[in-house]
Amino acid sequence: MDLGLADRTYLVTGGSSGVGLATVRALLDEGANVATCGRDADRLKSIGTHERLFTAPCDVRDAAAVREFTGAAAHAFGGVDGLVNNAGQSRMKRFDETTEDDWRDELELKFAGVLNPLHAARPHLRASTAASVVNVNAVLAKQPEPRLITTSAARAGILNLSASLARELAPDAIRVNSVCLGLVDTGQWTRRHAAAGSGLPYEEWQAELAADRGVALGRLGRAEEVAYAILALLSPRASYITGTSIDVCGGVGRGIL
Ligand SMILES: NC(=O)c1ccc[n+]([C@@H]2O[C@H](COP(=O)([O-])OP(=O)(O)OC[C@H]3O[C@@H](n4cnc5c(N)ncnc54)[C@H](OP(=O)(O)O)[C@@H]3O)[C@@H](O)[C@H]2O)c1
Repeated sequence: MDLGLADRTYLVTGGSSGVGLATVRALLDEGANVATCGRDADRLKSIGTHERLFTAPCDVRDAAAVREFTGAAAHAFGGVDGLVNNAGQSRMKRFDETTEDDWRDELELKFAGVLNPLHAARPHLRASTAASVVNVNAVLAKQPEPRLITTSAARAGILNLSASLARELAPDAIRVNSVCLGLVDTGQWTRRHAAAGSGLPYEEWQAELAADRGVALGRLGRAEEVAYAILALLSPRASYITGTSIDVCGGVGRGIL
C-alpha cells in the first residue's frame, strides 16, 4: 500500500539515534522530505547525507532554537506536513531519590518537547492538506512504574495533553496521536546495560529484562517496529484517526484501553 508520504515533509525531533533515527530512515525510504534535530552535532552528522534530509543541532527545550530549526526546514522543503515529537529520554529514579530539579527538568523536557515543536510547526501544519502530529510516549503513561516516577507522571500528562490537542487542532484538520512504547532496543538500553555492569552479554541481559518486565513477546522491540506505527499515523491514509494512541510494547501493557 502506498502510504502517501512521498514528497511531503516531516519533522522528527531526536533523529540521531534509536526510534527517531529509524523513523527518519523509514520516511526517507518512502520518498518523504525529513528534517531532524538533536543536541549533539556529531551524532547528527553520523546519520549521513541525503538530498531529502535536513539536519540541524537544536535542543527541543529551547523555544527560539526550535523556531529557527522549523523555519529553516520549512524553507528548505516548502512546508511541513507532519511532526514527530520523539526527542527525550527517561529518568530512572524512585520517589526518595528524586530532587526538585529532577521533577522540574523531567516535566520541562517532556512538555517543551511537545509544545515547542508544535508551536513552531503549527502555521505550516495548518497549510498542509494532510497534517499529522505523532507524540512518542510510553506505556508508563497508563501503567506507572515507581522506579521511573518522574517519567511516568510526565508521560501521563503528555498522553492527556495529546487528547486535548487532538480536539483543539481538529478544526484546522491537524490530527494528533501517540505511540506508547514498552521496552525498545535503542541507545537508552545499551547505556543502561553498560551502567549496570552485570557482566552478562547484551543479548542475555535483554532477555532477562524482558522476562522481568513481563513482556508477552519475550524480547525488546526494535526501533523499526516503532517507526512503522509512526508512519502509519503520519500517513494521509490515517485521515480519520485522531486523539488515540497505539501501544508498541510486545504485550507489556496490561490495561484494556
Ligand atoms: N527505548 C525505550 O525503551 C523507550 C521506552 C519508552 C519511551 N521511549 C521514548 O522514545 C523516545 C526515543 O527514545 P530512544 O530510545 O530512541 O532514545 P535514544 O536512542 O537515546 O535517542 C534519543 C534521541 O533524542 C535526542 N534528544 C534527547 N534529548 C534531546 C533534547 N533535549 N533536544 C533534542 N534532542 C534530544 C538524542 O540526541 P542528543 O542526545 O544528541 O540530543 C537522540 O537523537 C524518547 O522520548 C524516549 O523517552 C523510549
